[in-house]
Amino acid sequence: MEIVIVGSGGREYSIGLALQRECRIDGIYFYPGNGATSKLGKNINFKDDNEFIDFAITQKIGLVIIGPEAPLVEGLADKLRENGILTFGPSQAAARLEGSKAYMKEFAKKYGIPTAQFIQTQDYKEACDFIDSLNLPIVVKADGLCAGKGVVIAQSYEEAKSVVRDMLEGKSFGDSGKKVVIEEFLDGFELSVFAMCDGKDFIVLPAAQDHKRLLDGDKGPNTGGMGAYAPSPLASSALIESIKESIILPTLAGMEKEGNPFSGALFCGIMVVKGKPYLLEFNVRFGDPECEVLMPLFKNGLLDCFLGCASGNLKSVHYELEESVCVGVVVASRDYPYKNSKKAKIVISESQSQNSLISFAGVSSEGGELVASGGRVLVCVGKGRNVQEAVKYAYAKVDEVHFEGMQYRKDIAYQALGK
Ligand code: AMP
Ligand code: GLY
Repeated sequence: MEIVIVGSGGREYSIGLALQRECRIDGIYFYPGNGATSKLGKNINFKDDNEFIDFAITQKIGLVIIGPEAPLVEGLADKLRENGILTFGPSQAAARLEGSKAYMKEFAKKYGIPTAQFIQTQDYKEACDFIDSLNLPIVVKADGLCAGKGVVIAQSYEEAKSVVRDMLEGKSFGDSGKKVVIEEFLDGFELSVFAMCDGKDFIVLPAAQDHKRLLDGDKGPNTGGMGAYAPSPLASSALIESIKESIILPTLAGMEKEGNPFSGALFCGIMVVKGKPYLLEFNVRFGDPECEVLMPLFKNGLLDCFLGCASGNLKSVHYELEESVCVGVVVASRDYPYKNSKKAKIVISESQSQNSLISFAGVSSEGGELVASGGRVLVCVGKGRNVQEAVKYAYAKVDEVHFEGMQYRKDIAYQALGK
């Protein structure tokens, strides 16, 4: 079977790398892919979705995996399914769980899913009244997609109100901010929990932790994620059970009831407060860089999991996970996340490190050379028997990577190491 992976980041690279081992796969296309995915398969590009769908039909593509949120929110999965193409990823209607924070919060309220107290509004006065009723700090979110940047934790009432005003006036996030969600601040630790879903049934992957801030010690601005590891020892099996019972199960049942059954990767952003999980957000796709540390944990059955989700047949799927820990360190370009960086040639020394791999993201291929083209460039992933060992392998890999201006955090997985 030939498959297509839609997207161009490290997440899509890691899915391709993991699926490459499956003997049933004859070829992998990346749409549009990056300068390194072309080594795992073939990069393809199209004028529009219709042209892509024609390609998928003519080529008899056996499975399309949609990586990023934007094409899901725009309804690519629906179009593919309407044309009889097996697709991993939720429908446009189900993707609203990520596409609109207001929708997600109302959904959580309706189905009794624990989440921070909130209001959603387009009215400045209503927003201010609610702000005045909360303790500091106060969380303000733009309703729509903002590439992970639409959340402000305001430290004063004045700041919260001015953030709300700028959002409602369309100054900070354009149309995405013309509705806001304001919520109470939850103080705890965060987990990223992924469920692969087929509309009814699901499997939960090992809980991961992301590192959203740019600098060590969780300082500096928010980013798309500077590193991740899984499984996290902070997630006991009792906690995972409670996340399944109180969040994932009611979400799948609720979505089915709403007439929008959810299939694909459900990413639950969880805050654990005094041992109890609260839902911060849903994403309707794998996280990046979480995906890069989850894919290598599959010993076998990964393709069947994707197929099972896409065909509504997850119940009969068998898969096995490794008893290892993966740690992923994101190596970003010099000016990330502030502005685009100058391109830089990537040199990777001959590997001395074992049990590690690289997932390539912001790279292009120029004249046969791999070039860092900006943003998050690559993720060095170490796999070990425990977090310490995986950290050691991941950073050994980082030491083999060289390009001008490279930056990375030195403390990935610190919460698991008790630092
Ligand atoms: P979101 O995009 O909704 O996950 O928000 C981005 C980040 O903001 C989360 O990963 C949290 O670190 C933080 N955050 C969001 N909502 C809250 C909240 N209610 N309380 C505390 N932190 C929050
Ligand atoms: N790592 C967080 C995200 O993918 O949104």
